[in-house]
Amino acid sequence: MKEAQEDDLFALEARYCSYGDTVHYTKNPKLFTACEGSYVFDASITPFLDLNMQNAAASLGYKHPRLIATLKNQLDVLPQLASQFLHKEKILLAKGLCEQAERAFGRFGRVHFNVGGAQAIEDALKLIRRNTENPLMFAFMGGYHGRTLGATAITSSYRYREGLGPFPYRALFIPYPYCFRCYYEKKAEDCGLYCVRMFEKLFESEYYGAYNPKTGRSEFAAFFGEPLQGTGGYIVPPKDYFPELARILKTHGVLFVDDEVQMGFMRTGRLFAMEHFGASPDIVTFSKALTGGLNPLSGLWADEALIGPERFGPGSTHSTFSSNTLGTVLGLEVLKIFEENPAFGDQVLKKGRKFLDGLKTITRPYKMVGNVDGLGLALRLEICQEDGFTPNYPMTQRLFDEGLEAKLEANGKRYGLVLAVGGYFKNVITLIPSLLIEDSEIDLALTLFEQLFKACEMR
Ligand SMILES: Cc1ncc(COP(=O)(O)O)c(C=O)c1O
Repeated sequence: MKEAQEDDLFALEARYCSYGDTVHYTKNPKLFTACEGSYVFDASITPFLDLNMQNAAASLGYKHPRLIATLKNQLDVLPQLASQFLHKEKILLAKGLCEQAERAFGRFGRVHFNVGGAQAIEDALKLIRRNTENPLMFAFMGGYHGRTLGATAITSSYRYREGLGPFPYRALFIPYPYCFRCYYEKKAEDCGLYCVRMFEKLFESEYYGAYNPKTGRSEFAAFFGEPLQGTGGYIVPPKDYFPELARILKTHGVLFVDDEVQMGFMRTGRLFAMEHFGASPDIVTFSKALTGGLNPLSGLWADEALIGPERFGPGSTHSTFSSNTLGTVLGLEVLKIFEENPAFGDQVLKKGRKFLDGLKTITRPYKMVGNVDGLGLALRLEICQEDGFTPNYPMTQRLFDEGLEAKLEANGKRYGLVLAVGGYFKNVITLIPSLLIEDSEIDLALTLFEQLFKACEMR
């Protein structure tokens, strides 16, 4: 594609495409023409090392040969089918996911498929209402569950609701254990999990607005939480937080929903990120990496007591493209790839440690990097002012924009860097590399980061 053609496309986009999606978050939207492994390429075939990977969907790298072959084969065999009919892959994928949930959480259940992450959240909300006849939810400050109206009501950021209300069933938002920037201004070393204690306090008196100790009933039906916050800035909670939260919820009859849409399928080195913390959810939502990002598919797993046919009967919910044949065959192949290599999770953890150690080393001279943390290949760099704490949004955006300028260099070759910006103050670079990233590509990422920091005059 020639330069002129690209300019024409930008002009057409400005005229014909809605600006309502996230493309125009940046001043200079980028157009890509190809992808492979850990890279996307622009029209001049410049490689951009991608540390966002289709917002965590392309977790096995772009154009994974086995996934592409699986997709091509399904295109020849059964490329489409109305979702009221059965096909083998749907059944086998549901079985595989239920077996994984049983292994991880020791519970029997069923799977219900849909297309996108927010739709899986909608289905979870419906399932909870069907069981409890209660639309009120708890959720975390800094959580993200999607942009449909129901998902927006349980996503804390008011920006997503502003001008779209009313949201009568807006969740009650509870501080997430974000220890670097604790809502209660405590220190993780000696806080004794103060935040979860404060949550438990809600159940002490009817006057705290969530529970009636006399009847033992909570005003809230369920708690929606991500195991590590994704859009909130790849925040890793303390190890003993979720078991405590799950215990409090169970004691007070509140269901626990584990939203694994972003962290699921090995991002943290375990199939479900909640496995790191040993808490057992009643419902798990998933999407993105289930199909390696090649075809939309989402779903939820729920305990049999909630989702058995007597409670969630035929037609309880439906979407035309749910359990689509291309998505389910890809999901099965992704699970097979993990099952064939029992060390897959540990390999992700090892690569994550190498990446994290490297990031800690190269950022040491920069006071502006206030926090470097991560679990598996879910990593974070929190960009601050000179004091190492006050959020620095302009610098974070500058790092993002400079990465896309593709003026970085390694081994005599020009590179770009695709980054993602997240966090409560939009001052966190969230690193979401391919789970199959090579050690040499981690080294390349570190080299490019060093140049990027210098180019942006970070100190
Ligand atoms: C944790 C979580 N839940 C739900 C969603 C919504 O998924 P989708 O964008 O596919 O609607 C996302 C998307 O980023 C997410 O990270």
